This record gives sequence, structure tokens and C-alpha cells, in this order.
Amino acid sequence: MLLKPSEDMLGWQGTPRRGPSRRFQAALLVVFISAFYILTFSPYRLNLRLPGSSYTPASSLSSSHSPYAYVTLLAPDPKLDNKTLPDEEDDYFVATRVLAYQLLHAPHTATNSSIPFVVLMTPDVADSKVERLRKDGATVKVIEKIEQEWMKPGLPRWRDMLSKLRLFELTQYEKVLFLDSDMFIAKRMDDIFTDNTTEPLRSKPELEENDEAPVPSSYIFAAQTYVDQRRHQYPMPPGDYFSGGVFLAQPSIELFNYYLSIAQIEDRFNSNAMEQGLLNYAHRKDGPMPWAEVNYIYTTTWPSMKEYKAGAHSLHEKWWDLGIELDPDLRKLWFIAKGEMLGFHQAHESQGIHVGKDGSLP
Ligand SMILES: *[C@@H]1O[C@H](CO)[C@@H](O)[C@H](O)[C@H]1NC(C)=O
Ligand SMILES: *[C@@H]1O[C@H](CO)[C@@H](O)[C@H](O)[C@H]1NC(C)=O
Ligand SMILES: *[C@@H]1O[C@H](CO)[C@@H](O)[C@H](O)[C@H]1NC(C)=O
Repeated sequence: MLLKPSEDMLGWQGTPRRGPSRRFQAALLVVFISAFYILTFSPYRLNLRLPGSSYTPASSLSSSHSPYAYVTLLAPDPKLDNKTLPDEEDDYFVATRVLAYQLLHAPHTATNSSIPFVVLMTPDVADSKVERLRKDGATVKVIEKIEQEWMKPGLPRWRDMLSKLRLFELTQYEKVLFLDSDMFIAKRMDDIFTDNTTEPLRSKPELEENDEAPVPSSYIFAAQTYVDQRRHQYPMPPGDYFSGGVFLAQPSIELFNYYLSIAQIEDRFNSNAMEQGLLNYAHRKDGPMPWAEVNYIYTTTWPSMKEYKAGAHSLHEKWWDLGIELDPDLRKLWFIAKGEMLGFHQAHESQGIHVGKDGSLP
């Protein structure tokens, strides 16, 4: 059947009659102005993506927060299991506070693009530590632990490390940078989120294993080749195994479920290094989602003054452990940051001021 344009339709296409059209135009104008106002200024506005962002997961459309986040994990130190120590003697808790200070408040290293610092915390961490980190400006998120009986952590303090995988559930962010809490920040890290070594990659589903959950069609996983000695090249020569201490990833429930499916298969990977072993298996170079080597300038393990002078933005070490042989000048930098952190909060709180997430004062 052929459709003939009706009188009414022609009316739309031709010159409209005068009276109603004026009223119609005025109404249209009101609609446009209201829509413009709502989209631009109202608290119900859509978070419209800026041109240049290469992809827009649906989750990022619903709110106006940063698309990026720094993330760490805090769990109780097994060494303190049956002891009652003041909070300031819990090394990893203190290290997390130093990291919060460096990422959120310190003039030369804090985010200058309002990137939040999320602390994933297992439910058995003391409430006083939760409160303190919130006052420090951190976004504390208490998580359920992820545990697998068959896994055998190489060191007792790695027992809760599988819970790190919970960061893949933070789908309100497009990219997250995971940092172990024993990380010293020497330079602002914000640019890592837009570095071309942290772009999305296409998966190779044809390389999936039948007994594992499906992989997402694209993913981000950028990390650094692992070294285990103080003297090493920088940049490190690319290798097959990365450190789980720093990695940049795209949260994804599909990816999270993929990891969980692997975790459930006994001996699918060497569990000695816990989540580091799992992630290295999941992102093996000849697997469906090979990992990318992150721009070396952002981080280093087993640091020495050499990497610091070369401009490494973050350096990984147990700074407080005086049993570790380490350049004293390098070690001092972390202790100075710790002192600044304590002074910074004391100075504000003695005046009854709590700092905001970006270090701003009310
Ligand atoms: C701490 O005490 C519990 C029982 O209360 C025990 O099972 C555990 O082995 C102790 N841990 C350490 C590190 O001594
Ligand atoms: C943040 O600081 C860097 C220097 O570390 C500078 O290049 C950049 O323009 C700053 N960004 C903003 C948003 O101020
Ligand atoms: C990133 O950019 C640099 C410099 O522009 C280029 O040399 C390098 O090949 C790029 N790397 C990737 C992974 O695109």
C-alpha cells in the first residue's frame, strides 16, 4: 500500500498558518530553555561526556564524580592478631594514611583533578582506623572478604590479598589505579589515567578455557614487569610476570566473575603469591587478555636512588622496616612524608577543621 501524505502532514512541511504556530514556537522555546537549564545547572543534570573520551560505560552516565580512582586494600596485619597495639603502631595502617596524604593533600604529589582515594577495607579492621582514614579524606569502603581454602599464601600477611579483586566491582569508575599501601609517591600520578599504555584492549575470546567464565570483549590491565633485586635496569626489560603491587585496570563485573571462576579451580595457578598469581594467570601473554606494560615512569619495585632520580612517580618498599637494606636518603623521604602527614592533620584539627578530599578547607 502506498502512503499518501495527508493534509496534516503537508501542513507540517509547508508554511504553517500564523496563529497557532506563534504559540507553538513559544512553547518550544520554553521547552528548550528548561531542558538547557536542567541539563546544565540542575542537580539532576546528566553527566555528559567530554569529547575525546574514547568510551562511555553506562555506569558513568549516572553521576558527576571523577571517572578515575586511586585504590588500596587494608586488612589486619596477622602479626597483630592477638595483640592490642595503638593504631599508630600498625605499620600498614600508618602507610595507608601516608598514601592518603600524598595522594590527596601533599602540595607536589596530590591529585589536582579531584581523583578520589578509595580504601577497600576488610570488616575486621578496627572502627577507629575506619574513622581516622575518613577524616584523612579517604573514601573508605568496607568489603566482604574473598577467600579460597585451597590457596596457600607464601607469607601470612598475604592471607587477605585475594580481596583486592573487589576493586573490579567499582564500576562507577572507568579506570582505577591500584597501589599497595607501602607505596611512596614522588610525583603526581594523575596522568597515568590518560597515558596511552592504559588504553582499553580487545580480548581474544577464542583463547578462553572451557571451564572458566567468559572474558569481557575489552579490558584494561596495565602493570609492570616484576623484578626481585635492588640492582636492576630502569626501565626494566619487559618480562612475562608482573608485580601485583601497582596496576591500572577497568572495573567490570564480567571480569570480576571471570577472576572468581579461576579462583575456584584448585591449582589452576600457583597460589603462593595469591592475587598476583591469579592476575598473572588471567592476563598471561598467550591468554585471552594479555597484560600491557605500563609506562615505566610511573612506578618501580625494589627501588634505589637511581629510580628516584630517573623520575619514578611511585616507589614500592616497606619503608618502616629497618631490617631492609635501603638507601638511607631514600628511606628518609617516606619518613618525611609521614611527619608531614601527622603535622598536616594536627594543624587542621587543632583548629577544629577537617580537610576535604582534595585538601581544601571549608
Ligand atoms: C591468635 O589467637 C587465635 C585464637 O584466639 C589463634 O587461633 C591464632 O592462631 C592466634 N594467632 C597468632 C598469630 O598467634
Ligand atoms: C596538575 O599539575 C600538573 C603538574 O604536575 C600540571 O601540568 C597540570 O596542568 C595540572 N592540572 C590541573 C588540572 O591543574
Ligand atoms: C604511546 O605514545 C608514545 C609516544 O607518542 C609512542 O612512542 C608509543 O608507541 C605509544 N604506545 C602505545 C602503546 O600506543
